[in-house]
Amino acid sequence: MGITGLFLVSFLFVHLGGNALLFIPDNGETFNAFVRFMTTNPLIKVLEWGLFAGFIVHIIYAAILTRQNAAARPTAYAFKGNQGKSANWFSRNMGLTGTIFLVFLLSHITMFWGAYKFGDSNGQATLEQAYTFSYKVKEDVIVPDGTVIVKSGHYIDFEELTLARNMGLSTKPVAIKNMTGIVADSFKQWWIVLLYVCAMVVLGLHLNHGFQSAFRSVGFVHSKYSGFLSKLGTGIAVVFPAVFALMPILYFLLPGTYSA
Ligand code: HEM
Repeated sequence: MGITGLFLVSFLFVHLGGNALLFIPDNGETFNAFVRFMTTNPLIKVLEWGLFAGFIVHIIYAAILTRQNAAARPTAYAFKGNQGKSANWFSRNMGLTGTIFLVFLLSHITMFWGAYKFGDSNGQATLEQAYTFSYKVKEDVIVPDGTVIVKSGHYIDFEELTLARNMGLSTKPVAIKNMTGIVADSFKQWWIVLLYVCAMVVLGLHLNHGFQSAFRSVGFVHSKYSGFLSKLGTGIAVVFPAVFALMPILYFLLPGTYSA
């Protein structure tokens, strides 16, 4: 659990860094370019499977551990007053915060990743714009001799754009998929913003105990470092969720600045 937990924290760091591009008010140009890179790079595709495996192992071990803990003490403590000394609220509720966060995560992946990969088009743009803003083209682009130069579900590259320009088709509007548009449209709705902010509080609670406990469970216990790791864990548990939460908040409050 410790190893997969730390691996998931490293994913969180990369995801936070990538998503921070959403703070750039450039109609999604930079963020979409990042998404294009992430969704087309073969190495990232392999890492994505690793990430998926990491989540599964983490969840299975969590379920096993919770069962073992329950089996070790089939009846709950009659007196709960002293539990706080050995195990604080965060450590006793890892199963609860983890489960709530998992429900959020499934809806998050459906809302963004699922909608981008499998959902309908969410706009129209010329091929020039599709190239500049890294929009995924959502209909076959066919030149007059019947050749398909961009297949639906793909991005247009420079050679294809040049071909389209030579045929006078580069200003032709086509159906597109715009990831920043999906994010911006979701964060226009107050209840989604609220859902994200609450989920980030839960994530913070989960990370606050999880980070330092991960080092202990992999056997890294040293009096010299445990204070530092505990502080680092708390720092991560506050800063990561706070920056994540700022994204829906800013998109909601500043729709003029953050549109796509
Ligand atoms: C509130 C801020 C967040 C925003 C705006 C956001 C945005 C996105 C977007 C746009 C995608 C699809 C594009 C991509 O794959 O990069 C995505 C995918 C994903 N997000 Fe988030 N995310 C947020 C928070 C989180 C958190 C806290 C987690 C926690 C683990 C998370 C986990 C994931 C996962 C697992 C995927 C699918 C990864 C993949 O592409 O393989 N996200 N997110």
